[in-house]
Amino acid sequence: MIDVAFTRADIRPVEAGVVVDVLRATSTATQALAAGYYRLLCADSIELARQLRGPGRVLAGERRCVKPPGFDQGNSPVEAIERRGEELVLATTNGAPTIVTAAKRARRVLLACLLNLAAVAEALLPQRHDPQLDVQIICSGTDGAVALEDVYVAGRICAALPGERSDAARVAEAVARCFATPLEALAASADAAILRQADLSADIAYCALESELDVVPAVIAAGAGVAAVAELDRVPDAHSVDVGDTVSV
Ligand code: MLT
Repeated sequence: MIDVAFTRADIRPVEAGVVVDVLRATSTATQALAAGYYRLLCADSIELARQLRGPGRVLAGERRCVKPPGFDQGNSPVEAIERRGEELVLATTNGAPTIVTAAKRARRVLLACLLNLAAVAEALLPQRHDPQLDVQIICSGTDGAVALEDVYVAGRICAALPGERSDAARVAEAVARCFATPLEALAASADAAILRQADLSADIAYCALESELDVVPAVIAAGAGVAAVAELDRVPDAHSVDVGDTVSV
């Protein structure tokens, strides 16, 4: 079944969860792996991220859109184009906690955005051994509310997948059909208005770029408040990766 969770609260136990926080956490995560970071550590709090600081680690994230004190960079995907260490620790308001939550509920977790839309759809196409994947596209939302931009991306992913779909998936696809371009959809969102107020309009345009990156982030392990993420193609036997493995940080 192809399903959509409109907020983190709607996450259900599922074979594959695909987390979307297109403005900007999953865009930044995808860009960071494309830049060559070998692993991301997504932390569900700023305090935990600070505890994870260590040799070769870069702290990235935001609170109210801007870089927290003591962090090395904010949560702009443009800041993640240049690799500045071996691992990136990412702590954001909604996206990172959603990734950590999804890792507790789904056997496999991928991260999606517009930058890697085609690569994610390819990774989700029915496999010979798995003709009808049970997948839930998980919209991070904003502070518990539905985020238009995440629903738009969820609808675009659902439209690229064959098979039976839930009404929530059909709603997301209908939302996606309302917009002529990805930029139109993202720019119409409340989160885009907040980014514009913070003088971060360039991130909206960057996050609206479609299928520019052939990188699919996958959760490879999870622990208390943290999920380790690496590029799917670099994970041995990726389709059997079980997030139940405890992350060694
Ligand atoms: C989030 O995780 O809430 C967003 O990514 C926030 C942001 O990037 O400004």
